[in-house]
Amino acid sequence: MLKIAPSLMCTDLGNVEKDIKELDEAGIDLYHIDIMDGTFVPNFTLGPDFVKTVRELTDKPLDIHIMAEKPERFIDLFHQAGSDMIAIHAETTNNLQGTLTKIQDLGMKAGVAINPSTPLDVLDYVYNVIDYVVIMTVNPGFAGQTFIPEMYDKIANLKAEITNRNLNIEIMVDGNIGKDTIPKSKEKGATIFVGGTSSVYKSGLSLTENVKNTRNLLNG
Ligand code: DX5
Ligand code: ZN
Repeated sequence: MLKIAPSLMCTDLGNVEKDIKELDEAGIDLYHIDIMDGTFVPNFTLGPDFVKTVRELTDKPLDIHIMAEKPERFIDLFHQAGSDMIAIHAETTNNLQGTLTKIQDLGMKAGVAINPSTPLDVLDYVYNVIDYVVIMTVNPGFAGQTFIPEMYDKIANLKAEITNRNLNIEIMVDGNIGKDTIPKSKEKGATIFVGGTSSVYKSGLSLTENVKNTRNLLNG
């Protein structure tokens, strides 16, 4: 089943409860919450207290995308805040295998996020402790950027790797995911679609209409 994951860094922070209620009713599948440290990426966004707030507002799975150096320092913090899934960047830790193992041992789904220039072979020896891979289709740090077209082949190559190894790993695509990029990302093997300013939070339409249009693209 293909899933829609609204990116809550794009939500109206003055109306989080109202937006979450509308998105839940519109039938989204999980929430994508971006965490940034101002070092790995030149921006700051949300934090553990925001996760705690969202946890009180919805039963949908909370997917935490940590764009921070040494994310192993924060796994307990985000677990206690109510996270169901945590993706860490392969580029930010010297202990990828141990940190992924810890995420799974705490009962959460473990993800690896990889930047556009990072090759897939960083995953070679950790496939057994991964539940999902986040293919960054833009350079991380900001919403509203442009999809890097070379990422289509990367999605296809990852899908082939997962199939060849007979694994049950989901492929999440994150960055400028919308009507121009969903069809080919889906065709190449993506299964979870992060909804930001090009889809769920596309200006001019309501969240409900945007979710409906996005679901139609996934079902198309
Ligand atoms: C960027 C974040 C994305 C971003 C997506 O670093 O990881 O989740 O919010 O926003 P759009 O879809 O507008 O690129
Ligand atoms: Zn993200």
